[in-house]
Amino acid sequence: MYCKVIPAIPAHVWPPDNENLLKFKKNILCIGAGYVGGPTMAMIASKCPDYRVTVVDINPERINAWNSHELPVYEPGLDKIIKKTRGKNLFFSNNIEKAITENDIIFVSVHTPTKTFGEGAGKAPDLQYWEKTARQILEYSKSSKIVIEKSTLPVKTAAAMEKILAPAKGKIKFEVLSNPEFLAEGTAINDLENPDRVLIGSRDTKNGLKARQELVNIYSRWVPKEKIITTNTWSSELSKLVSNAFLAQRVSSINSISALCEKTEADVSEVAKAVGMDSRIGSKFLQAGIGFGGSCFKKDILHLAYLCEYYGLPEVAAYWESVVKMNEYQQQRFIANILSSMFNTLAGKKICVFGFAFKANTGDTRESPAIYITRKLLAEQAYVTISDPKALKNAALDLADIEGNIIYEEDPYKAAAGCHAIAILTDWNIYKNLDFRKIYKSMIKPAFLFDGRNIVDHAKCCLLYTSPSPRDRTRSRMPSSA
Ligand code: NAD
Ligand code: UGA
Repeated sequence: MYCKVIPAIPAHVWPPDNENLLKFKKNILCIGAGYVGGPTMAMIASKCPDYRVTVVDINPERINAWNSHELPVYEPGLDKIIKKTRGKNLFFSNNIEKAITENDIIFVSVHTPTKTFGEGAGKAPDLQYWEKTARQILEYSKSSKIVIEKSTLPVKTAAAMEKILAPAKGKIKFEVLSNPEFLAEGTAINDLENPDRVLIGSRDTKNGLKARQELVNIYSRWVPKEKIITTNTWSSELSKLVSNAFLAQRVSSINSISALCEKTEADVSEVAKAVGMDSRIGSKFLQAGIGFGGSCFKKDILHLAYLCEYYGLPEVAAYWESVVKMNEYQQQRFIANILSSMFNTLAGKKICVFGFAFKANTGDTRESPAIYITRKLLAEQAYVTISDPKALKNAALDLADIEGNIIYEEDPYKAAAGCHAIAILTDWNIYKNLDFRKIYKSMIKPAFLFDGRNIVDHAKCCLLYTSPSPRDRTRSRMPSSA
């Protein structure tokens, strides 16, 4: 929907004919053409020009978009790689049956959301998409395959996959590997090109180790050997959930401290800096703000907690659930702060939201704190103008069910004009360097700025100011000359 520079692929290029197929050393398939499947396979195709990489999806619109001028996901640098590979050794298709039949190495990268119904609703992973894929692989396979879990899955899912694939006919054998993905949106291309590590879990059997080596060989094309780590399947599955849980925990930890800072004279940015300079702690993921969003942190922590409960560890489950609770508390605090600063009423006031994506450099709005915050503003009968460089289409979809006064405006200056307050909800770079003096002049006074990401240079800002950094509240009034 966003990328404009790539020539669309001619319809006849897919499916490649059999002659085309034989030209390649290996034929790799990925089922699921989403935020992970698309970029990950584009990177493999780019690094392995002698391999043919096919990506399939049940959603025809997604596949059409991957084959069009406008890619379905915005990710810096992705357009360049797609331009280099698409139609040469990277193909996007809806023909799942043909693709499974033709390929020997199959990545599964379908979504694994939280269940919204039945047993475990709101916590357990909804594995229906993953299971359907396993059954499709069984049904359409005419030869042995290596099946690789790329999706984030609960520990022991590979065992269930093996059971589903077990009734294979004749000599057909399946080897199931775990190879979780650690890319972060907005930096996906760099993360894929220079990963901290590649994790591969397998069974410790002759066939398991052989399959593992096949996958090691693919990554070794560009990833240094010492960064490719191999474990047993269950450690690999669990490590992915735990990595996300640890990252989210750091965000909740610093956010909990931001609440304490707001009650004292401490500044959370200074505390984060001082704490993060301890090399045992490190400086990353200590940026206080309105909390984490994105499709994975919350779901993966809840899945981890659900697993703990399943295995009779309620104390461990409660520990991890508190990370999500703290995240919700932070967003509630942000809204409460807006209300109390603006004289306890937002009815009829115009609030401008800067940023709707769950983080900078992506158009993705899944679980974005902006969804919750905007809904709350609308519930208070505020008029909301939303600005974002890449996420306005998704924002409109997220809010489609609400009857409210919403305007979408990409230009931040136009969006802020005539508003009573600005709420920064995404840490896009453009919001750091705006001319706030100019913006202030165009706003209704007293004009407020609620910096939900703590990114604006407060000294240059002349609006009433609130952020997780309390020192700024003390210099609240704008200069009268502004
Ligand atoms: P996504 O929703 O963007 O993409 C999943 C795709 O799978 C969809 O296009 C859907 O139509 C397709 N699909 C579902 N069932 C299918 C089937 N039976 N056959 C063919 N296609 C099917 O999801 P995503 O963000 O790419 O995440 C995929 C997995 O990777 C999840 O488990 C997620 O936790 C994990 N992960 C995501 C990220 C991220 O940054 N988004 C990073 C690391 C890991
Ligand atoms: C995260 C992990 O970083 C990836 O390693 C993982 O592969 C991925 O989840 C996944 O499994 O989906 P992502 O959600 O794309 O990646 O982005 P992050 O950079 O981790 O940010 C997540 C959220 O935390 C964002 O809303 C961000 O604004 C917030 N955050 C991050 C903070 O509030 N403070 C920080 O210091 C860091």
